[in-house]
Amino acid sequence: MEALLSAHAFHLLRSTTAARRDPIADVEGPRRRSGEYVPVTIRPLVEADVDACAAIMLATPLLARYGVTTAAAARGALADVFAGPCRGLVAEEAGRIIGFAVYSVRGTFAHSGYVRTIAVAPDAQHRGAGRRLMDAVEAAIFDHGPNVFLLTSAWNAEAQRFYERRGYRRIGEIPDYVRSGITEVLYRKTLGPIQGTGA
Ligand SMILES: CC(C)(COP(=O)(O)OP(=O)(O)OC[C@H]1O[C@@H](n2cnc3c(N)ncnc32)[C@H](O)[C@@H]1OP(=O)(O)O)[C@@H](O)C(=O)NCCC(=O)NCCS
Repeated sequence: MEALLSAHAFHLLRSTTAARRDPIADVEGPRRRSGEYVPVTIRPLVEADVDACAAIMLATPLLARYGVTTAAAARGALADVFAGPCRGLVAEEAGRIIGFAVYSVRGTFAHSGYVRTIAVAPDAQHRGAGRRLMDAVEAAIFDHGPNVFLLTSAWNAEAQRFYERRGYRRIGEIPDYVRSGITEVLYRKTLGPIQGTGA
């Protein structure tokens, strides 16, 4: 049901954002270092994608530090897309799922957007798939309100650079929030305060 809702929201999103930009259209994708463009499609995550997303999680050292070390744990991390408050998107290149994102439009303070997970397969990173996924996530969230929040591990400098270049600002640190011994850094990207933007 959630997947159907996500697909519906996807079509709404596509139609409402097409005029100003279309972050999820099947247009030119990341440019390979050879200079060739690779078509990448950003679309809703459906049940048939779960094993491919789980494989990306298991290949991501960051997630192993959060206990995602088995296929069952990886699949479980996607459960809220199908039976919970989250939505999912995948990046698909030539029939292969190369990345995914899980987010909620009201997941922070029961009001604002929250990006729970984003991961790109190690051999597909640094080619723009993460940027395309975040473009689509933010477009969906900003349709509901003017703020996006997310957490990164304090030691994940690459992810922090990735978010800061996208306009996220560091709000503060939360020790031992997700897992004992790991400090999370809270980031926010904003179009303005909740009051005054009509959201
Ligand atoms: C963070 C993550 C999702 C980014 O995905 P990605 O597909 O590599 O992201 P992009 O390619 O869009 O951009 C990443 C970098 O590659 C660079 N890049 C993009 N295209 C490039 C190209 N053709 N050649 C070289 N570099 C390129 C970008 O400039 C960017 O650099 P920056 O981070 O210093 O700004 C990915 O690194 C990942 O899955 N990491 C592990 C999981 C993780 O840390 N998730 C976030 C948890 S909070």
